[in-house]
Amino acid sequence: MKALVLSGGRGTRLRPFSYSMPKQLIPVANQPVLEHVLDNLRAIGVEEVGVIVGDWAPQIRSLLGDGGRYGMRITYIPQDEPRGLADCVAIARDFLGDDDFVMYLGDNMLLQGVREIAEAFRARRPAAQVLVHKVADPRAFGVAEVDAEGRVLAVEEKPQEPRSDLALIGVYFFTPAVHQAVAGIRPSARGELEITDAIAWLVEHGARVEATEYGGYWRDTGCVEDVLDCNRELLDSLTGRTDGMVDAASELVGEVVVEAGARVIRSRIEGPVVVGAGTVIEDSHVDPHTAIGRDCRISDATLGYSIALDGATVRQVRGIHGSLIGRAAVVSAAGEELGRHRVVVGDHTTVEVAA
Ligand code: DAU
Repeated sequence: MKALVLSGGRGTRLRPFSYSMPKQLIPVANQPVLEHVLDNLRAIGVEEVGVIVGDWAPQIRSLLGDGGRYGMRITYIPQDEPRGLADCVAIARDFLGDDDFVMYLGDNMLLQGVREIAEAFRARRPAAQVLVHKVADPRAFGVAEVDAEGRVLAVEEKPQEPRSDLALIGVYFFTPAVHQAVAGIRPSARGELEITDAIAWLVEHGARVEATEYGGYWRDTGCVEDVLDCNRELLDSLTGRTDGMVDAASELVGEVVVEAGARVIRSRIEGPVVVGAGTVIEDSHVDPHTAIGRDCRISDATLGYSIALDGATVRQVRGIHGSLIGRAAVVSAAGEELGRHRVVVGDHTTVEVAA
C-alpha cells in the first residue's frame, strides 16, 4: 500500500509560525509532526510515500530528503495552490497508479498509530475506510453519520448543523475507486475540492464506505492550543535519559531527557521535559510538559507547559507558561516587576516583558 501525505496548504491558524515555517514541521516533543506521521506509516508497512508540497517545499525536502533515513522512498508532488484535499489525490494520480493507498494529512497526530484500521482495510477493502473521533464541537471538521455496523451513511465538510458528533480524522484508506469520485465532484463553497465530498460521492453511488472510531489520542495540530496539548500527551510517555551534562547543583525530577551536548547548570527540571542537543539551561526552573529544542539558551528563567524551538532564548523571565516560542526568538526581561506572561511569538521575534 502506498501513502499520500499532505503537506501543502497555508496553515493560517498557526500564524505567526506559518509565516516562517510549514505547520507540518512544528516540533512536538522535539520531533516535527511530519516525522510522527512517517513513523505511523512505517509501522503499517508503507514504503512508498508521495508528499504533496506547496510553497514550503524546500524546507520539507530538506528534512525528509529521499526518505531513506526513514526506511521509505519519498516522491514529492508539487501543488501550486491549496485547491483542496481531493485536488491532492487528483495531482497524485500518476504516483498512485491503481494501488490502494492511505491518505494522511500532514498535520494530524494519532499517538497510538493506525495499525488496527490498516489491517481492517487490507482485509475488507471497502472503497473508503475512514477514522472518526467524538468531539465537542464538530463544526470545524468533516462530520460523519455512521450506522451501528460502522457503515457511513453520510459525510459533510464543516457543517453548521452537524448530524453527529463524529469528526473525520485526517487519515483515509482508499481503493482506486476514489479516483472516479474525485473526478465526479466540483469545488465547494470555499473553492476547494473536498475529500469529504469525494467520500460523499462514493456513499451516494452505492460504494461501501466504512468508519472506525479511533480509540487513541488524536489532534489536528492546526492551532497552538492543540500543539501544546499534543506535546503534553506525548511527553507523558517519555523515558528519561541524560546524554548531556547535569552539574551537581542541579536537580532532575521525574522523566527528563537531556540530549548530547546539552548542559544543565544550577537548575531544577521537573519532568516530563526534553532538552535538545546543545541547549544550555542555567539558574532556571523548567516545569512539566516542556520541550526545548536544540541550541536554546534558558537562563535565570522559569517556564513550563511550553515548546521552545531551536535556537530560542529565554532570559530573566519567570512564569512562561502555555507558550510556543519560535526559532531563534528571544524572550527576555525588560523591567523590574515580576509577573506571569504568556507569549506566542513567531520565528526571530523578540519579546521584552516585565521581569
Ligand atoms: O484534521 C481533520 C480535518 O482535516 C477533517 O475533519 C476535515 O474533513 C478535512 O477537510 C481537514 O480539514 P482542515 O480544515 O483541518 O484541513 P486543512 O486545510 O488544515 O488541510 C489539512 C492538511 O492538508 C494540511 O496538512 C495542509 C494540507 N493541504 C491542504 C489543502 C487544502 C494540502 O496539502 N493541500 C491543500 O490543497
